[in-house]
Amino acid sequence: MSVTIVIGAQWGDEGKGKIVDILAEKADVVIRYQGGANAGHTVIHDHETYILHAIPSGIISGNAVNIIGGGCVVDPLLLKEEIKILQEKGITVDSAHFKIADNAHLVTPIHKWLDKLQNAHLGTTQRGIGPAYEDKVRRTGIRFDMIANDSYKRMVDSHVNEAKKRVISLYGQNYPSEMDEELCRCFDAAKELLPYIAESAPILEEAVNSGKEVLFEGAQGTMLDIDHGTYPYVTSSNTTIGGAYTGSGVFVNFDRRIGVVKSYTTRVGEGPFPTELLDKNGEKLRDKGREFGSTTGRPRRCGWLDIPLLKKAIRINGFNALALTKISCLSGFDTLKVAVNYNNNVPVYKEFKGWHEPIEGITDWKLIPEACKTYIHFIEKELNIPINMISTGPHRANIIFRNS
Ligand code: IMP
Repeated sequence: MSVTIVIGAQWGDEGKGKIVDILAEKADVVIRYQGGANAGHTVIHDHETYILHAIPSGIISGNAVNIIGGGCVVDPLLLKEEIKILQEKGITVDSAHFKIADNAHLVTPIHKWLDKLQNAHLGTTQRGIGPAYEDKVRRTGIRFDMIANDSYKRMVDSHVNEAKKRVISLYGQNYPSEMDEELCRCFDAAKELLPYIAESAPILEEAVNSGKEVLFEGAQGTMLDIDHGTYPYVTSSNTTIGGAYTGSGVFVNFDRRIGVVKSYTTRVGEGPFPTELLDKNGEKLRDKGREFGSTTGRPRRCGWLDIPLLKKAIRINGFNALALTKISCLSGFDTLKVAVNYNNNVPVYKEFKGWHEPIEGITDWKLIPEACKTYIHFIEKELNIPINMISTGPHRANIIFRNS
């Protein structure tokens, strides 16, 4: 039995949902430890597509206990909706299989309003994530334990007044007339979620100490980390391995630290992206990879793989295994490029022969075209970490297991 963590190595959307879904089948406990409904993990299981924004992907596949950890921010209205959609699709979401840490913070309609006003230039998902974490750090946030003991009410007035004051002074913006009603709906939804609220750290501790299979599921990606990412074009939490400790409240020795690497690079929103392709190749990658945000539907920016960026992700997270995703989207290029270095901030590329054979759905390494094998071997050698899983398509079965 082991403790595993899965973290995106780039700017998110690496295909973590599928990797977690595969690993979660055997997991006893799965925890999301940071972020909120800005994430969108797509899981295709038994021909049904699920997009999970808040609930860990382990809810789909098995009997695991799924935890939204204390490092997360939770929009009660969206979460209630997510639970409803899953239940309508026949997935069991009950208090035995799903728990929300009592120290997780709420995202309120005020946060979403502020996100739209303040953070448009950063290209945020406008899900209120930044303002919710701001309130947490300012010590004016509202947590689920406060909902449970009804002590949140005195915080709500200051939450509203503070936001009004700030917005009016900065933007001269009127307070939306429907806000009070929306706030009531939000807190009503939070109260309906109370059966799921738990002190989650002891549950995790017990699972780890008794040798159960525990899986930590990262959201977003390493380069969106508030400290280590491309600041200020980042999200507001620690997406990297440190966030797993603060966001779960439990020290663990991770046996497997799996970095999920997309075979090329994408990002949504604003910010630096040295290997971005603004030409036909970029469009082709977007088209082949169906690169549109699963939370916002925005077209993702696409570019070549970036080895120095991945080396930084390895340094931060200590990956000891990699999962390479979306390799099937690279069929059909005459040549491919990989950034191997930077010269005065300009990427230095190595060129590879492409391949035209479709490889979607291949599960046998021997059937992979030689040019594709060369590409994968190069990545493995440069990063000096085994690529143990290669995803060859969106379905759960479309995977090659290697080295293990
Ligand atoms: P926020 O997390 O909504 O504050 O957005 C901050 C930045 O992170 C923006 O560039 C978003 O596009 C990006 N972002 C947030 N969540 C995700 C995700 O799950 N995948 C990819 N990018 C994300």
